[in-house]
Amino acid sequence: MPTPSILFVCLGNICRSPLAEGAMRDAARKAGVPLKTDSAGTGSWHIGDPPDRRAQAEAARHGVDISNLRGRQVTEQDFRDFDHIIAMDRQNLNNLRKLDPGDGKAKLSLMLDHVPGKSGQSVVDPYDGGASAFESTWRDVSAGVQALLVKLGCSGR
Ligand code: 4NP
Repeated sequence: MPTPSILFVCLGNICRSPLAEGAMRDAARKAGVPLKTDSAGTGSWHIGDPPDRRAQAEAARHGVDISNLRGRQVTEQDFRDFDHIIAMDRQNLNNLRKLDPGDGKAKLSLMLDHVPGKSGQSVVDPYDGGASAFESTWRDVSAGVQALLVKLGCSGR
């Protein structure tokens, strides 16, 4: 079976989606699951930027290093390259639907759609919040990542 691929998408690609990418990579590595992951933003402000320092610190608290990630913007090619494109909130999901070239394979969803009892909910933008906002982001993306591993059939390994 080809390696599944997942792209996580938020607005700036410096807070939520790099945390989701870091959490997913860490969980997949620990589970011994081959998985291609990346993250991107619907906005262009932070192209080439490392993740927000507060996001880096929150990931580091959980033993995950995201300092080498760099911001990029979603492209039409992403819809052809990835099996799943997972948006952090409804605004991102709506923007992705507008960007979808229609000839790709990617299935679009919200991160919390995968978490029982949280379907339709958004991972709240922590950018204007404090450290507790980033803790909340980590909790949400971790729950999403665990649920995704279960769906990919890899949870028991
Ligand atoms: P993110 O957070 O979408 O989780 O990366 C944001 C980062 C930057 C901005 C907005 C949200 N910004 O407006 O620059």
